[in-house]
Amino acid sequence: AIVQPSVFLKLQSGKLTGDQVLKSQKKLKDLEGVFQDEQIRAALPQESLIYEVQAFMPIAEGKSGGLFFGNSTIYPGKIGAEYHMTRGHFHSNLDTGEYYWGVKGEGILIMMDEDRNVWAEEMSEGSVHYIPGKVAHRVANVGEELLVFNACWPSDAGHDYATIAEKGFAARLVEVDGEPKLVDS
Ligand code: F6R
Ligand code: ZN
Repeated sequence: AIVQPSVFLKLQSGKLTGDQVLKSQKKLKDLEGVFQDEQIRAALPQESLIYEVQAFMPIAEGKSGGLFFGNSTIYPGKIGAEYHMTRGHFHSNLDTGEYYWGVKGEGILIMMDEDRNVWAEEMSEGSVHYIPGKVAHRVANVGEELLVFNACWPSDAGHDYATIAEKGFAARLVEVDGEPKLVDS
């Protein structure tokens, strides 16, 4: 029989709909130590929503052979001079890549290899970003609107947040004279 798919992607908004779509939110209180200025982060309203993630995971996480599909929305704003951004991670199964693509807004994808070399790509509607294996990735919203992007990654990639929590990225994205700039940290 021909049936309806269980998940839809709203092409204009980048949002996923369907019963099997998982959702998570990151508020300021969940992002201790992520931003350079921890004092400012701690002093701001802790219930402020910084980003939301949706994921469609049709097979068990950690099983090989599958692909996951996600949506991330980062609210605009800064913590001091640093733009709102995701925590960032390496994949636990280190040599697994990922695609990100821009849907709405203005962002910057920050990448870092195992030798701590950092580089970045501008994200905008329709921009396609290949994140190679062994490369940590994080996204900052540098615009005044929501930044929305979608992602596709292997089901056995997993997420290593600990390495970034301990050592951070070798550069941070801050506003300098009204423009985003990567500054060594
Ligand atoms: C999955 C992936 C994205 C991020 C999301 C939130 O491998 O890279 O779906 O998980 O953009 O960022 P993190 O996970 O770094 O908080
Ligand atoms: Zn990832």
